[in-house]
Amino acid sequence: MAVIVTGAAGFLGRHLVTALLEDGHEVAGFDNFVTSDRDDLAELLHRQQFVFHEMDVAGHDFRRVAGEIDATAIYHLACPTGVPNLGPLALEMLEASYNGTRAVLDVARADGATVVFASSAEVYGDPTVSPQHEGYTGNVDTLGPRKGYEEGKRVGETLCAVYAERYGVPAKIARIFNTYGPGMSLRETRVVPAFVRAALSGASLLVHGDGSQLRCHTYATDMVDGLRRVAQRGMPGAAYNLGSQDAKTVLATAQAVIALTGSRSPIERVERPAHDHEARLPDTTRAERELGWHPTTPFEVGLRLTVDDIARRLEARRDAATSVGSPT
Ligand SMILES: NC(=O)c1ccc[n+]([C@@H]2O[C@H](COP(=O)([O-])OP(=O)(O)OC[C@H]3O[C@@H](n4cnc5c(N)ncnc54)[C@H](O)[C@@H]3O)[C@@H](O)[C@H]2O)c1
Repeated sequence: MAVIVTGAAGFLGRHLVTALLEDGHEVAGFDNFVTSDRDDLAELLHRQQFVFHEMDVAGHDFRRVAGEIDATAIYHLACPTGVPNLGPLALEMLEASYNGTRAVLDVARADGATVVFASSAEVYGDPTVSPQHEGYTGNVDTLGPRKGYEEGKRVGETLCAVYAERYGVPAKIARIFNTYGPGMSLRETRVVPAFVRAALSGASLLVHGDGSQLRCHTYATDMVDGLRRVAQRGMPGAAYNLGSQDAKTVLATAQAVIALTGSRSPIERVERPAHDHEARLPDTTRAERELGWHPTTPFEVGLRLTVDDIARRLEARRDAATSVGSPT
């Protein structure tokens, strides 16, 4: 008996696996490293209660291998992420979200396991209402630049609802809003890690347009707590917004990073991409009422921990580059 985490090598996957292990669960992780690195898993691979399978959740072997685990719960986080991957990995996003979710749901059906599908605020597309509540059906575009990701998450949600209705699978949906924290990839393009890396290395913080876009940032451990509450208390076939309501403009976030790091980096305005959404804000009434969830980590605290983590890893990378280059 174990808990399965797909996308276990990813940013949120590693935080989730760590929390589950700390609570004494056995965890089976799956990942194909399409948007992560094996090195990211180094620490977890030493943990006794953790078994890792390098595998595509949308591939042939997943059903067989996951089916042998006798899972009590499956957190389905596997999906390529990242704005630069929206075009190049659009098909892989759809495959992880349709074939992968279908396989996860079939395994859960056989095992009587609970499923949490890691959906996204992107199911709302470019929202015309703010904040977004779960009943809002979105302003989406099946042919737009974000189609693989957005439509993948939407069909994944639909599969969960259909399996809950038809087969009684307790499949629950977490609509995740922007999450940040230690352990994000050093290639990550989301504003918090991108601004922190720029500030620490003296580069410009690139703000799209006038930086008035509103974003909320949820700390990783708060998000993991939310995902686990969705598993424990969520209604099958229902979706729960998980995100902070502490909205900040992108410009204010850049200024907060500069202030906290003491950096002399300038803030530079660059052309805003057409698919950059105006406002992403969750209405979390349902999560508060039904799950008893709300984020507790203040942005300043989470940002400090994130800055420290990125600074440490950038330094380790510089040290490694220096020692490779120096004669012995
Ligand atoms: N972090 C956020 O702010 C955020 C916001 C909304 C939704 N989400 C969702 O939460 C989940 C986790 O996000 P994250 O930030 O940890 O992303 P991430 O890219 O760090 O992790 C995703 C992991 O899934 C793996 N993966 C992708 N396709 C796979 C496949 N077919 N088979 C096996 N593994 C596969 C990747 O290699 C990666 O390790 C994703 O589904 C993402 O869409 C995250």
